[in-house]
Amino acid sequence: MQEQLANILTEATAAAPAIAARPEFEAFKARIAGPNGTLTAAMKAMAAVPKEEKPAAGKLLNQTKGALEKLFAETLARIEQSEIAARLGPAIDPTLPSPDDFAGSLHPLTQVREEVVGVFRKLGFTVAEGPEIESEWYCFDALNTPDSHPARDMQDTLFMPRETRCADATKKGDEAYVLRSHTSSVQIRTMLKQQPPIRIIAPGRCFRRDTVDATHSANFHQIEGLWVDKQVTLRDLKSVLDAFVREMFGAGTEIRLRPSFFPFTEPSFEMDLKSPNLGRLSDRWLEVMGCGLVDPKVFENVGYDPEQWTGLAFGMGLERIAMLLHGIDDIRHFYANDLRFLRQFA
Ligand code: PHE
Repeated sequence: MQEQLANILTEATAAAPAIAARPEFEAFKARIAGPNGTLTAAMKAMAAVPKEEKPAAGKLLNQTKGALEKLFAETLARIEQSEIAARLGPAIDPTLPSPDDFAGSLHPLTQVREEVVGVFRKLGFTVAEGPEIESEWYCFDALNTPDSHPARDMQDTLFMPRETRCADATKKGDEAYVLRSHTSSVQIRTMLKQQPPIRIIAPGRCFRRDTVDATHSANFHQIEGLWVDKQVTLRDLKSVLDAFVREMFGAGTEIRLRPSFFPFTEPSFEMDLKSPNLGRLSDRWLEVMGCGLVDPKVFENVGYDPEQWTGLAFGMGLERIAMLLHGIDDIRHFYANDLRFLRQFA
């Protein structure tokens, strides 16, 4: 009896590690503890054990049973583990960021820029670009801005250090570099590159020596517009701007052109808008952009015949548009990278 029980345990212990799946495990268990199993047979054989040997044999039987039960449980647990692993697939990398977390979104200024560009695209404008580090000629001279103009003052425009000056400049003003103070330089770049008709919109970053406060930033964005063709008139300017504000600020939005001055447009205007959709600001005229008809001097500077070509131009601050549209009261919110602000536009 003793030998019989010892053999059952030894054999079972030797066979268990090779069992990899549930059906095999069930068969293994049945061979031992099933109705015709080896352990079951040993239990039945107890009846034939002489009375005086019974206590010792019974104790051994119980020990063997306990050891086998433990073996069965361990083997089953091992099989379950490998079943789970098979279901999960290859090992995962816990250092990878979760795909559900930190979903980014476009910056509110990017969103509004895309919206503005989208409106002008519908009106037949295409997007043009120019460099942010610009020569004085593109930024001022070509735009008919005289040396004495206050915008060219070191107090207003950021000049690049002397060492970065262009040595082989051919035009006066082309040797000094500035951080462009407006996107109007893209007007010049575009007109020098192509012949009319031209209908472009130029969004981009601009720089001024402004002290940062709620409405000023040394680094801001503008969107420039230029349309050159035969017989472009003030009526075209007004209708383009009208269509723009209605698309952007909703039905019922009106515009007003106030006489103003820019060296590169004649006549020049400030465009104000009034919109019933702007809450607290609905009852007042809001200054939004500079505009006008292209000054003939500018056409001469790029080699266009001012007798033949006419044009309209406008430039607006992107931050200003975004602030009005979303009721934002401080320009610094755009640059603070505060998620509490940014998530409101996600
Ligand atoms: N460049 C001008 C500014 O920065 C805006 C403007 C653009 C005015 C085009 C007229 C025409 O203030």
